Amino acid sequence: MKNEKLYLYPVWLRIWHWLNALLFLSLIFTGLNLQYSKVNSPVIEFHTAILIHNISGITLTLNYLFFFVLNIVSGNYKYYLPKLKSFGKDMLLQLKFYLSGIFKNQEHPFETTSSRKFNPLQQITYLNIMYALFPLLLISGWALLFPEFIINRLFQTSGLLLTAVFHTSIGFLLSIFMIGHIYLATTGTTVLSNFKSMLTGWHVHENHLVKSQLTEIKIQQVQNENEN
Ligand code: HEM
Repeated sequence: MKNEKLYLYPVWLRIWHWLNALLFLSLIFTGLNLQYSKVNSPVIEFHTAILIHNISGITLTLNYLFFFVLNIVSGNYKYYLPKLKSFGKDMLLQLKFYLSGIFKNQEHPFETTSSRKFNPLQQITYLNIMYALFPLLLISGWALLFPEFIINRLFQTSGLLLTAVFHTSIGFLLSIFMIGHIYLATTGTTVLSNFKSMLTGWHVHENHLVKSQLTEIKIQQVQNENEN
């Protein structure tokens, strides 16, 4: 039973992740309000939306710095690095599984182990999200908070407008990531198993569990046959 559970999500990572998710939802909600709600009938009042958006954005930045430092110090960053040698082949295998194998109840092509927490598709996605798109979202958000530092005119257009369009576009891309991320998180051994892991820290290797249970049943059957 001992080897069937892997402690993959330490406390700091879970605190970062769930605070990150909460702040993200708050930013999406207030961000959509700022972008689309009508002046006379906003879902939440304009200044309240700005205040919540700014506080969430500042907290998100501090939370990101916390993730950035601890991900390196704890060595968790290693899980994000894909194997370059077999990367193309591995990605195709994983994609094929998500597009077809998963609907035929086939086994996941990359088993979760203590040295491989993510499949190749997760690795490349998380790497780009956490080390490219996320920092760009934060930097453009801070630039909008202090617009006096934004270059006034860039390519004959207002620098402020370009920064706002850039910030909103990255926000949309990350929101799309989040939808895909939640869907793929349901494709674990059971619909809820990955969510449980992110809450408890433990990844339960159900395949091993099923195998060991089957072995136990077989042993029991042989013993019963011998007794009869
Ligand atoms: C309500 C929103 C969210 C839910 C329900 C959710 C759910 C989960 C679950 C179940 C896992 C563990 C399984 C896995 O690795 O795929 C996970 C991991 C992860 N999530 Fe999320 N997530 C949410 C939002 C986000 C957001 C907004 C981001 C970043 C922009 C994010 C980034 C990550 C990363 C990087 C990991 C891997 C952490 C590690 O083990 O190093 N998640 N998420």
